[in-house]
Amino acid sequence: MSPAVGQPYARLEGHDKVTGTARYAVEYPADGLAYAQMVPATIVRGVITGVDSRAASAIDGVLAVLHHGNAPRLAADVDAELYRLQEPTVHFRGQPVAVVVAETIEAAREAAGLVRLDYDVRPHRTELSAQDPQLYQPGHVNPNYPTDVVAGDFDTGFAAAEVRLDLAYRTPSYHNSPMEPHASTAQWRDGQLLVHDSSQGTTPAQEILARLFGLPVAAVRVVNRHVGGGFGGKLYLKVQTVLAAMASQVVDRPVRLALTRHQMFGPVGYRTPTIQRVRLGAGPDGRITAVAHDAISQTSTVTEFAEQTALYTRNMYAAPHRRTTHRIARLDVPTPFWMRAPGHTPGSFALESALDELALACQVDPVELRLRNDTAIDPESGHPFTSRNLAACLTDGAHRFGWADRDPTPRARRTGRWLSGTGMAGSSYPARIRPASASATAYADGSFEVRINAADIGTGARTALWQVAADALDAPPQRVRVQMGDTALPAADPAGGSTGLASWSWAVVRACERLCEQLVGLRGRVPAEGLLVEVSIDDEVAAQATLPRYAYGAQFAEVRVDADTGETQVRRLLGVFAVGRVVNPTTLRSQLVGGMTMGLSMALHEQGAFDNRYGTWANHDLASYHISSNADVPAVEAHWVTDEDSQLNPLGIKGAGEIGIVGAAAAIANAVHHATGVRVRELPITLDKLL
Ligand code: MOS
Repeated sequence: MSPAVGQPYARLEGHDKVTGTARYAVEYPADGLAYAQMVPATIVRGVITGVDSRAASAIDGVLAVLHHGNAPRLAADVDAELYRLQEPTVHFRGQPVAVVVAETIEAAREAAGLVRLDYDVRPHRTELSAQDPQLYQPGHVNPNYPTDVVAGDFDTGFAAAEVRLDLAYRTPSYHNSPMEPHASTAQWRDGQLLVHDSSQGTTPAQEILARLFGLPVAAVRVVNRHVGGGFGGKLYLKVQTVLAAMASQVVDRPVRLALTRHQMFGPVGYRTPTIQRVRLGAGPDGRITAVAHDAISQTSTVTEFAEQTALYTRNMYAAPHRRTTHRIARLDVPTPFWMRAPGHTPGSFALESALDELALACQVDPVELRLRNDTAIDPESGHPFTSRNLAACLTDGAHRFGWADRDPTPRARRTGRWLSGTGMAGSSYPARIRPASASATAYADGSFEVRINAADIGTGARTALWQVAADALDAPPQRVRVQMGDTALPAADPAGGSTGLASWSWAVVRACERLCEQLVGLRGRVPAEGLLVEVSIDDEVAAQATLPRYAYGAQFAEVRVDADTGETQVRRLLGVFAVGRVVNPTTLRSQLVGGMTMGLSMALHEQGAFDNRYGTWANHDLASYHISSNADVPAVEAHWVTDEDSQLNPLGIKGAGEIGIVGAAAAIANAVHHATGVRVRELPITLDKLL
């Protein structure tokens, strides 16, 4: 039997999704269903002094108007982000301050616009600035890294370098825009809470809901069989779930609550804007001797969220003298949150742009420059990487792209009005593992079922786990079923940080191995009721936690820029990646191409346009927050090199959800410089910056 792993199976749920039978969070039917609509604060900072819900309540079909004066009480010590409708304080514009529940979504929406709130408005501070005297050093950066890391002596090394660059970069805020907004259906029965949720992982959501509502964990069940994308925005329990559960408690009926697209822009998280300074000292051969990366980002007054912007620089290239720092501004803004390749996305834009400037300064080819600064030893820990195929990605990418004999001269290729250029960048993302558990059952009819509370947020994780399970059971895939997306299943961490498949597959393999051992003991005679085993990999995972493990890549871009209007078009995007074992080439390619496309969108289009006067974004819909559309996206090619890593997990899987975006924007910005001679250090690359 040939292995299932490595085969390009179509998604198991693909048919259900395209025929509309796959149910998402607000598509589950329920008897007596009611609809809720969130009411956002219309001030930036202050205190609610009065709530008048008479006009809202007068709308036909309105069942309840919840606010801080009448909502069910939540435990105060669980999560400040979720502690809503409990107190009159407003911390940011768009903060949920009331919820309307009605018989229909139309009535709920109309009434939501009629809830009148009076405020005592206080002055606000929302502008991210490198000159902010209140910038501070957080205790750590996400998820738990030191804020500042020093090796050697940067100042001395930099002063002594023959080539020195001191560069400033800025990235704006970005908004997670999954097709499915944050959405929940909540219902209570006999003191038990059942939620269908859009979360990227329900194991932590179950526990947090239990604590918020003072319930035993077993009294809460959260289901997310299908999730319409997340990109990190749904990584943990979000406020709409809590609001839906409160609303359901009050009206004693199942309640659906989906955020509007407008409400997705800010209140539930976004990628922080960054201000970055990169200094590179190098020899005339382009070998880096000193690197410093200082990153500034923002958090809210509600909770601390510290983007790990400079992390990329800690582990990517060799240099004896190095320093990375993070500082944060605490502003009257919504709390930033996770968005695809947090930290590495803005950080790689800065470092990989700076390397392009170094290549030009030293007159070394950009691919060659990265090869010269390659290292088999993690510069931060001093330990060898478990595997490192950056050079293979660079070399293979250069070959596939046709990089050889590139003339590095900027603004030297013109056809009619079009200036053309090519650029490239390195890429990497940590290959982390999280604890997980799974169970496997053999049935007397020769079929198997594998269960794990993993989440398929559209990535194809269900299909990949099914392939992994079939091989581990040495069974034809047709005899294997996979159950996931339900807290009734063995606990596992959310789909985030590119940890999903690497961690879940480990637990699935161990469960299947254990089951096979027991079947051997029974000589294959499966009891009539089936044979069940359940395993946890937590101890195994903990034993490996400190190894430096990364996926790598190389990104290449070709652009053309209209010399008269500055219009920029990406003509070609090509990436080569080293992401460990490839479980399913079809779903892997989709992840990589999706990430690269998101990087293109970041380079040219996406931008949260913040207006400090109003303390919010001027653009908060998909008309004014432009995400690259089909016409903007050329042929995007993703390839991979053989990347074996025996120290990662049983199959050597690295995870590929995020690496596709890392470096993509820098490759495009570098190509734009090659085309025009204009170096854009502040994204996005809009035409005004090129003229
Ligand atoms: Mo990803 S931003 O960790 O879901």
